[in-house]
Amino acid sequence: MKSIVLIGFMGAGKTTISKELAAALEARVVDMDDVLVERIGQPISEYFEEHGEASFREHETSLLKEALNEASVIATGGGVILQQENQKVLSDKLVVYLKADANVLVQRIREDKINVRPLAIKNDDGDLKRLFFSREKLYEKLAKITVDTSKKLPQEIVNEIMQQVAS
Ligand code: S3P
Repeated sequence: MKSIVLIGFMGAGKTTISKELAAALEARVVDMDDVLVERIGQPISEYFEEHGEASFREHETSLLKEALNEASVIATGGGVILQQENQKVLSDKLVVYLKADANVLVQRIREDKINVRPLAIKNDDGDLKRLFFSREKLYEKLAKITVDTSKKLPQEIVNEIMQQVAS
């Protein structure tokens, strides 16, 4: 199996879908944010506060390369596409863009009280939407497959990905 890399903005469903997709494919799953939290030893929001976003991005880039060494379903963080190095690494990979409407994304981000994102703390809803629009072209450019997750159940999204991967 080739690795499947899920990209998309915060709230797109990367974590949920990666788990279900990996279960369906009997594949290893890597949730990059979870691994990074373990490595840095604190929540991402605290890490951003103490060490800055740039330092987090360095950890993220080395983990991406490492995760790709073994066939897996990889849930990336929403900002993974920002680094040119990562764009290069992802250019020939099976990248699936989980797309959603900007309003749906903001609503999901605000409703998620467990995973509090640093960029959601310091940005209001308008800022978050602008951040999404500023990244949208990059997600689209890197994607081999795009699935709109706005109004779909996880199982439907997983089925759609599996069909497109097989075709
Ligand atoms: C980020 C998204 C987060 C996490 C970090 C930065 C981003 O991951 O990596 O807070 O820049 O979009 P999720 O997309 O899983 O929320």
